[in-house]
Amino acid sequence: MLRTYVITGAASGIGAATSMLLKERGANVIEVDIHNCEVIADLGTAVGRASAIEQVKELSNGKIDAIIPCAGSVRANVQTVSVNFFGVTDFLTGLRPMLNGSPAPRVATISSVASLLPNSSELIDAMLADDEPRALTIAQELIDQGPQFGGLIYGSTKQALSRWIRCESIKSEWAGAGIPLNAVAPGMVETPMITKMVATAESRAATDALIPMPLNYYLKPRQVAYLLAWLTSEENTHTTGQTIYIDGGSDATIRGENIWIS
Ligand SMILES: NC(=O)c1ccc[n+]([C@@H]2O[C@H](COP(=O)([O-])OP(=O)(O)OC[C@H]3O[C@@H](n4cnc5c(N)ncnc54)[C@H](O)[C@@H]3O)[C@@H](O)[C@H]2O)c1
Repeated sequence: MLRTYVITGAASGIGAATSMLLKERGANVIEVDIHNCEVIADLGTAVGRASAIEQVKELSNGKIDAIIPCAGSVRANVQTVSVNFFGVTDFLTGLRPMLNGSPAPRVATISSVASLLPNSSELIDAMLADDEPRALTIAQELIDQGPQFGGLIYGSTKQALSRWIRCESIKSEWAGAGIPLNAVAPGMVETPMITKMVATAESRAATDALIPMPLNYYLKPRQVAYLLAWLTSEENTHTTGQTIYIDGGSDATIRGENIWIS
């Protein structure tokens, strides 16, 4: 049966690769981005999210099968909090009722290996409390303290997103409605997002020290798309609440062998 997917960040990188893969497999894809897409909206604002949800509703007649939010930013600014966290959680919450008629409703978004790196627990707590104004204030305070602190924003948004997924996935609205809700956590993926980060030998070496990838080194966007496609396929019936690392061994290297609470 023809499945309808909603993909954000579909104009570039992993979102574009996932859209292409799913279309090749015969799916109907509604693409959302701030530019160059069917649905143009700024997911960094409440107004933009509401507009995106309304446009998706119109295009799908209120019936969709899966949502794959990929839109994101790595910049050390306050918008990164709004796009990476609230641009996913608010968007998913708004679209969730449209999944109800699907025989196999699914959601998968994108966290990051950066969720394991140093972060701001205060910022994470504000996001998990669904307090966007407070989260933006904390993010601005981090930026004001200098690049080392502003650099904590991205990883904080991704850790908050992975933790939100664990909390939400088992609730009646998601698990109770038969909707698996997961994230993938890529290591370094060759998209425009990382161009500056790996522009020089020095910056690449610094990145590789932070995010070691002993298996097959950097990813292509399509390799992440395959995992997102499986998580949002009919085949995924019981995997939920997970952040699945697709990272060439970064997680195993960074966190080591024992990640279980004793
Ligand atoms: N590239 C990597 O190494 C890497 C690693 C881990 C996680 N990720 C995550 O993967 C996701 C996709 O990143 P990518 O590498 O494909 O980057 P990308 O820059 O190629 O694509 C990101 C897309 O998000 C869109 N976007 C940004 N802000 C937006 C907004 N306010 N409203 C609507 N759309 C907006 C951009 O226009 C762009 O098309 C992001 O969430 C990113 O954090 C990327």
